[in-house]
Amino acid sequence: CAFSRYVVFTSKHHEGFTNWPSPVSWNWNSMDVGPHRDLVGELSAAIRKRSLRLGIYHSLFEWFHPLFLSDEASGFKTQEFVARKALPELVDLVKSYKPDLIWSDGDWKAPDTYWNSTQFLAWLYNDSPVKDVVVTNDRWGKGCYCKHGGYYNCADRYTPGKLPTHKWEKCQAVDSLSWGYRRNMKLSQVMTLPSIIKDMVYVVALGGNYLLNIGPMSDGMIAPVFEERLRGLGAWLKINGEAIYASKPWRVQTENSTVTVWYTAKNNTVYAIFFGWPPKQPLQLTTPRTSGTTQVTLMDYPNVPLKWAPTTPTSGLMILMPPMPESPANAWCLKLEGVV
Ligand SMILES: *[C@@H]1O[C@H](CO)[C@@H](O)[C@H](O)[C@H]1NC(C)=O
Ligand SMILES: *[C@@H]1O[C@H](CO)[C@@H](O)[C@H](O)[C@H]1NC(C)=O
Ligand SMILES: *[C@@H]1O[C@H](CO)[C@@H](O)[C@H](O)[C@H]1NC(C)=O
Repeated sequence: CAFSRYVVFTSKHHEGFTNWPSPVSWNWNSMDVGPHRDLVGELSAAIRKRSLRLGIYHSLFEWFHPLFLSDEASGFKTQEFVARKALPELVDLVKSYKPDLIWSDGDWKAPDTYWNSTQFLAWLYNDSPVKDVVVTNDRWGKGCYCKHGGYYNCADRYTPGKLPTHKWEKCQAVDSLSWGYRRNMKLSQVMTLPSIIKDMVYVVALGGNYLLNIGPMSDGMIAPVFEERLRGLGAWLKINGEAIYASKPWRVQTENSTVTVWYTAKNNTVYAIFFGWPPKQPLQLTTPRTSGTTQVTLMDYPNVPLKWAPTTPTSGLMILMPPMPESPANAWCLKLEGVV
């Protein structure tokens, strides 16, 4: 994943099996059974070695844990599961692996007061070993998501219709029907590379981060179809990543001109991304206002300035496009310098 900037690994999903030697897991963990390895620890080390940011996913509730089930039966008046499982494990994860990001999940059955989320987060941000760097999402108790949190995930695969006012991230799975690996997956249910890139560009144009999930097999192998999608995404980002990484939303997010265009911005540069090669010349953009210093290039040909002319004295430009370069995803990006 040379193209990713952070990795979020599932330390424990709703079934409760921990992928690290949790001392409160009653031996139901990846060190005592299964691979006999500390998967969170090994992956953390590998991620750090590549200077990526480490995220840890953690499900608060567990489907079968007797203490959770008895707390639930009490209407969440008791907190045995929180005291003896959920909080000790969260604190253990933070102290042992020092994650840059905690991706909390499985919160929705009980209020944040049951989970003691504010107490945990106060410790995390004020006193924990990662207090100065850590970020978290918004799943810390029933009714919490999309309202409170470091950044917002809202629901799985949440896609806002317009620019949100709070930092957000879309979590999306390459297998459109499952977050975990399943043997009965069909090709038609797997996102295509162009649809992944379109989704990512939309999210980034709207100021979000894109968290793309794949489920490894039980032996840790990654299905070749997932590998192919990730390599394709990497190939596209190798050419166009400048428009994605560390970009900000522009004053306009999208427009329909010759083709539908999505805008991102960085410093004084504006990027215009479109899907499908424009069917006619010139390519017209409506929103950017040009100046005497305006320069237009296609990311595939960074050193070849394209011919352009203003559409009207106040806004818009027409661009003479070069011959179509091949794109792994049928998606291209124009770099516009000296426009506002
Ligand atoms: C949750 O927080 C309350 C208030 O600070 C505290 O009394 C209680 O012991 C905490 N429960 C757990 C399980 O940590
Ligand atoms: C562009 O066109 C698409 C489909 O024709 C439409 O869904 C979208 O709302 C339009 N976008 C704008 C900014 O007008
Ligand atoms: C954007 O500006 C910052 C600060 O001036 C600079 O460090 C960075 O290299 C610039 N990025 C690009 C892509 O020009």
